[in-house]
Amino acid sequence: MQSTTLADLRQLKKEKRKFATITAYDASFARLFAEQGINVMLIGDSLGMTVQGFDSTLPVTMEDIVYHTRCVRTGAPDSFLIADMPFMSYATPEQACENAAKLMRAGANMVKIEGGSWLCDTVKMLTERAVPVCIHLGLMPQSVNILGGYKVQGRDESSANQLITDSIALKDAGMQILLLECIPSELARQITEELTTIPVIGIGAGNSTDAQILVMHDALGITARPPKFAKDFLKETGNIRDAVRLYIEQVESGAYPDQEHSFK
Ligand code: KIV
Repeated sequence: MQSTTLADLRQLKKEKRKFATITAYDASFARLFAEQGINVMLIGDSLGMTVQGFDSTLPVTMEDIVYHTRCVRTGAPDSFLIADMPFMSYATPEQACENAAKLMRAGANMVKIEGGSWLCDTVKMLTERAVPVCIHLGLMPQSVNILGGYKVQGRDESSANQLITDSIALKDAGMQILLLECIPSELARQITEELTTIPVIGIGAGNSTDAQILVMHDALGITARPPKFAKDFLKETGNIRDAVRLYIEQVESGAYPDQEHSFK
């Protein structure tokens, strides 16, 4: 099987073909997701909540993400893996380079960092040193204490404009994928159209983005209090493989997320 590359994802955007991605933390699920046809996985710091049982992503360490990236790479040798850089692991561009190298050595193809234009120097430095960067904007879980909770972002004109400005500045700095979490669908559509060559992955950002991601525990109905945008695909299908295939089908056709699982 051929490995999935960033060029493949850019080509999908060019051809306006949507793709499904999901979080993965271990080899068994990574293998299952890849076998069903998910070629892009995120080793998310959501593992602090889903795997470790904390109430935020803040306690997650570099060692945790390195360990889970190795596990996922073992199960999905050909998938495109994005590894999250945990809280405070990229406070300066130099620190980001040192820590990103650990994730790339563990098997990641790309790192993900949360934040706006203040990250431009970091993105430039990482990209110039051969580390592709995915930026996470909108609801940034590592900033929960600044944001005052897990709330929809970009609802007023000035914060919406800020998200557009940040996206463009980060694209100019070298960002290769943008992930938008919990923002109004119309704003996500505008940003996705503005970034003509950068694949945009959405979660709680409507169905106009180029791709969708779900935390695997949300997609399989394991989360006790799932967010509004999450859909339990296991409930509809009764077994995990069919649930994953249904998720892929509904993302590719644009059926998921519908209005009920999006924000106006
Ligand atoms: O850590 C994570 O799983 C994420 C998703 C919410 C996209 O960043």
